[in-house]
Amino acid sequence: MTDGVLGINATLARPTTLEAVPSRSAQGEVSSHLDRAPGRPSEWWRRAVIYQVYVRSFADGNGDGIGDLAGVRSRLRYLADLGVDAIWFTPWYVSPLADGGYDVADYRAIDPAFGSLEEAERLIAEAHQLGIRTIVDIVPNHVSDQHPWFQAALAAGPGSPERARFWFRPGKGPDGSEMPNHWTSNFWGEPWTRTTNPDGTPGDWYLHLFTPEQPDLNWGHPDVRAEHEDVLRFWFDRGVAGVRIDSAALLVKDPALPEIPENPAPGQHPNTDRDELHDIYRSWRAVADSYPDRRILVGELWLPDHERFAKYLRPDELHTAFNFDFMVQPWNAASLRESIDRTLAAHAPVNAPATWVLSNHDVTRPVTRYGQEDTSFAFVNKRAGTPSDLEKGRRRARAAALLAAALPGSLYIYQGEELGLDEVTDLPAHQIQDPMHHRSGGTDPGRDGCRVPLPWSGTCPPFGFSPDSTSAEPWLSQPRHWANLTVEAESRDPGSMLGLYRQMLAIRREDPDLGGEFAWLPSDPGVLAFARGDRFICIVNLSAAPVRLPAGCSLSLASAAISGDLLPPDAAAWLHSEPAQTPGDAGRPAYGGK
Ligand code: NOJ
Ligand code: CA
Repeated sequence: MTDGVLGINATLARPTTLEAVPSRSAQGEVSSHLDRAPGRPSEWWRRAVIYQVYVRSFADGNGDGIGDLAGVRSRLRYLADLGVDAIWFTPWYVSPLADGGYDVADYRAIDPAFGSLEEAERLIAEAHQLGIRTIVDIVPNHVSDQHPWFQAALAAGPGSPERARFWFRPGKGPDGSEMPNHWTSNFWGEPWTRTTNPDGTPGDWYLHLFTPEQPDLNWGHPDVRAEHEDVLRFWFDRGVAGVRIDSAALLVKDPALPEIPENPAPGQHPNTDRDELHDIYRSWRAVADSYPDRRILVGELWLPDHERFAKYLRPDELHTAFNFDFMVQPWNAASLRESIDRTLAAHAPVNAPATWVLSNHDVTRPVTRYGQEDTSFAFVNKRAGTPSDLEKGRRRARAAALLAAALPGSLYIYQGEELGLDEVTDLPAHQIQDPMHHRSGGTDPGRDGCRVPLPWSGTCPPFGFSPDSTSAEPWLSQPRHWANLTVEAESRDPGSMLGLYRQMLAIRREDPDLGGEFAWLPSDPGVLAFARGDRFICIVNLSAAPVRLPAGCSLSLASAAISGDLLPPDAAAWLHSEPAQTPGDAGRPAYGGK
């Protein structure tokens, strides 16, 4: 055991940003604790809690085994009680579902498997009445191969204006049988597919950075820009508060489609993070800003260069972007601390709020990853078959939740994270739909293991996911051990992951210090300790030994049982320091250091 390890002696006398008391209005403008002055639009996204709903797997309203909008509507109260400020819906548009809906055939209609546009409008309004904002997913890099534009392009043939909206090119080699370049697909396999001419002869190739069912759009084409701005207005007009932008760094390509150089200059990579993107997002920002009540743009940007990342968050571009740097850190204090520092340093110059993300629908569930011997991130689940100590993983995921929720900025929760669900690694092969699995020839298990339908109630599948026993089985099988992880079971146990999330989000909403300034406190290398505002302290123990909590503090929440004043390994605690007694206390080890 490490004694007096924290040695906290910082003076916690900093100004506090006060937040108004939470309130959820019954109608009209969304009103929550994030909207301080009624009638004045707030910068609500700066510290919002945003819950990601993967519609297919959230709740099934009509009993066909597939989640839908009726299911979401029936569970809105659950999300309000959990304490979320906004819901981000993964794509719900008409789609052949070649990539779980990220292959959109019609941006202005809801896929019939999920419901109707009218029902989406009702859902947006009902969420709004509960004080919950709605964020929809916009997929601008590509469309479905069933989208009317792509169908028209295929029909119109080489050199046609219809094809100019995409990247059609003749192949190389004497018979055009070689791909136009050697870029790589994000989803295994090749990024080019050859078309067949109307007379049956082999034709031009088209580019798809993902699956062949997702042809890339040509963002140099004015129709593409105009169409997407119109789609933004379409959803903003229906009351959504923001959009999540899929693959936001990939849209623009060098029209010469050159090979990828070894070390491209910043902004000069042929298909990623090109400088021209900023102009597109400035015009999107103008669309968002044309609405008086703060509609926001959230970028999915996988960029290793933090300065390049932050450029997208300049005041006239996106409001926030997912912090994947934090998400991919192993369970290691130094790595997490460096990532937090990098994040805050990158966001400060552009005055954008950071986001804190532990998982999403593309990555291994944290409970499983943190329970593995090697906790480093692998995209996607390359360590399939690696054993995981789920109890250890769950302890760490609980601690990680308290860490993420105490950091300054907005917080994302992927559905099921609040239940501590683990990755399902033994799905029957015939159920797996993720193209990553199929395009890898079955070597990559793909992402369906984190997309298994949520367990709501009862002791056996479908765990209340579908309405009754006459319902079809869920589209992905739920493991039997989820009987202990249903919303119903966890609601009975304040010590459950759900109990922890509920308490955590309640404190986050109500404690004014959590809107206050962030400062590291001195601690041992295996421990993260920081203050927010005048009195809030978060301590995360990633070391192998218990650490003594500082004296003179009251415990408001812990991820594990505390015996005496010892915080066990793989645990986190939220504390409040007692106010300093006299000015002379400053600089002394105020909280029971050595
Ligand atoms: C990122 C999304 O999160 C992922 O699910 C999708 O497959 C790709 N973009 C392609 O749209
Ligand atoms: Ca359904």
